[in-house]
Amino acid sequence: MGNLTHLSIALDGPAGSGKSSVAKQLANELNIHYLDTGAMYRAVAFAALEKGIDPKDAATVESLLKATSITVHFEQGNQRVYIDDIDVTANIRTSAVSNAASDIAMHPSVRYKLAEMQRAVASQYDIVVDGRDIGTFVLPEAEYKFFLTASEEVRAKRRFKENKENGIPSELEDLRMEIKQRDYNDTHRELAPLKQAEDAIKIDSSDLTLEEVVGAIMSYVKGGQQS
Ligand code: C5P
Repeated sequence: MGNLTHLSIALDGPAGSGKSSVAKQLANELNIHYLDTGAMYRAVAFAALEKGIDPKDAATVESLLKATSITVHFEQGNQRVYIDDIDVTANIRTSAVSNAASDIAMHPSVRYKLAEMQRAVASQYDIVVDGRDIGTFVLPEAEYKFFLTASEEVRAKRRFKENKENGIPSELEDLRMEIKQRDYNDTHRELAPLKQAEDAIKIDSSDLTLEEVVGAIMSYVKGGQQS
């Protein structure tokens, strides 16, 4: 288990693969923390958009990062993300922020800073951490690693349903394009691209319910079958 003194479960996969719902339920059943690393990239993206900064402009984003404090707190077990002491958790789920987060996530300065924060959080708790590079870059020593996938069609439909439930207006075709573009960005960036870790267990959730995915992961975790 390397130098990690707490239980760490890394859960990686592309946008809409169901990671956050799975991670939430898993954390609940195991009574451990859940760190949503995408929310951290989204918070930086939100800050950039608020300040009129182009998320693709590496130098300006780096200056923003230096001048801004990003923090993660757990309140009654739920993660909240703050930018300079302002809770932005409720503001980071729009498509504009999703797309900007995908651009922001390409910059190594952003990735190094957020990965360091993620490691610091993981060192304090038993935790499930979801993202794109957790098993490969952030926590390569994680005790359990899972890579969650689903077809593009299924992922777009899930996002559509999720948005509807959250009152966020969207078109299915737009979400499909958005997912395609984010997949491309995530798999083609130089530092820590989205990739299955060699020792991760792959789960295709296209035809599985949330309960089935969680059940499959629980059987590995309880049975101690990995690492
Ligand atoms: O998971 P979520 O959709 O909230 O992530 C938002 C964006 O943040 C992703 O499209 C991805 O580009 C980026 N991200 C990342 N590495 C992570 C988590 C998210 O690059 N560990």
